[in-house]
Amino acid sequence: MVELAECFGPVEAELNALEQALGRELRTDSPALQSLVRHISAYAGKRLRPALVFLSARACGSAPTAEHMKLAAIVELIHTATLVHDDILDDASVRRRVPTVNALHGNQVPVLLGDFIYAHAFAMSVELSTPEASRVLARVTKICCRGEIEQVFERFDFDMDEEAYLRVIEAKTAELYAASAELGAHYAGGTPEQVEALSRFGRLIGVAFQVIDDCLDLIGDEAVVGKSLGTDLEGGKLTLPLIRLSSLLDGAERAELQKLITDDGVEDRRARLAERFELGAALDYSFQRADDFIRDATRELDVLEPSPARDALKNVAEFVLCRKK
Ligand code: IPE
Ligand code: IPE
Ligand code: MG
Ligand code: MG
Ligand code: MG
Repeated sequence: MVELAECFGPVEAELNALEQALGRELRTDSPALQSLVRHISAYAGKRLRPALVFLSARACGSAPTAEHMKLAAIVELIHTATLVHDDILDDASVRRRVPTVNALHGNQVPVLLGDFIYAHAFAMSVELSTPEASRVLARVTKICCRGEIEQVFERFDFDMDEEAYLRVIEAKTAELYAASAELGAHYAGGTPEQVEALSRFGRLIGVAFQVIDDCLDLIGDEAVVGKSLGTDLEGGKLTLPLIRLSSLLDGAERAELQKLITDDGVEDRRARLAERFELGAALDYSFQRADDFIRDATRELDVLEPSPARDALKNVAEFVLCRKK
């Protein structure tokens, strides 16, 4: 079991400084907006994407600079904006152990708050020494929106296969991981080979991260994970464990699964699913697929010189696999 502290060691100082830097962003003289900013910045996530920015710089042989600090804040803000919007899409009520903005204010406010955070992040990105980060992050943000839109269009589509699922999760989640590692390396003067390897590393751990997230949505403990779970099932989002489960069932059972997902007014669909179906094999398969992606990711690190940062990146990959939150 890998703990986050084992992943972050070489960049602990930078991650502490990032908390201060994030606290200075999104300042506003509007009391309404200020209350929202306070609400979403009073709680912290795992900071995995900023850690990738810093660790990738170190793994390319350079100490993170002020530019990396800005980049780390930008990717975390973009991530935060995606979460604010995602909680509307998923009708989620808890995020990072506190009520979501949509739970507190309905959907109108978080639509605009998410936009506000995106705009702030992109305004920050133009202060960097080159437009590379703006270019990459604008592309990633468009791809993330595409992924979320495709996921909405594919709700309740029981013909969806693993390939279509992977396409969505790569877009909505893995691209930002890829960009975090890639830009960390790029702004550290990494060689094209290092930058490309770290980009692939980020993308692969991002895919694994979402596969595990989708397993946690079905079997995780809300008290541990700290966010609403079961929302994929509620929203008809067919994630890998469900796609696999469906493929293992006979016709009658499959019809029953589909009914459980589509019927209106089913109370606690997650509990009904676990009661009625044996999920073990489908979950094992999903964890195995995530493990495959993590093995591929770890191999990408071979192009880097041995260093504490390279070891830490390897630990990040292992953490993604065994995380419980
Ligand atoms: C949650 O991301 C959104 C997904 C991509 C599944 P994280 O689990 O990294 O969220 P925080 O930042 O730690 O809360
Ligand atoms: C969302 O995936 C990924 C994003 C890009 C925001 P999820 O909907 O599974 O994320 P959680 O579980 O709410 O964090
Ligand atoms: Mg979602
Ligand atoms: Mg969600
Ligand atoms: Mg989820």
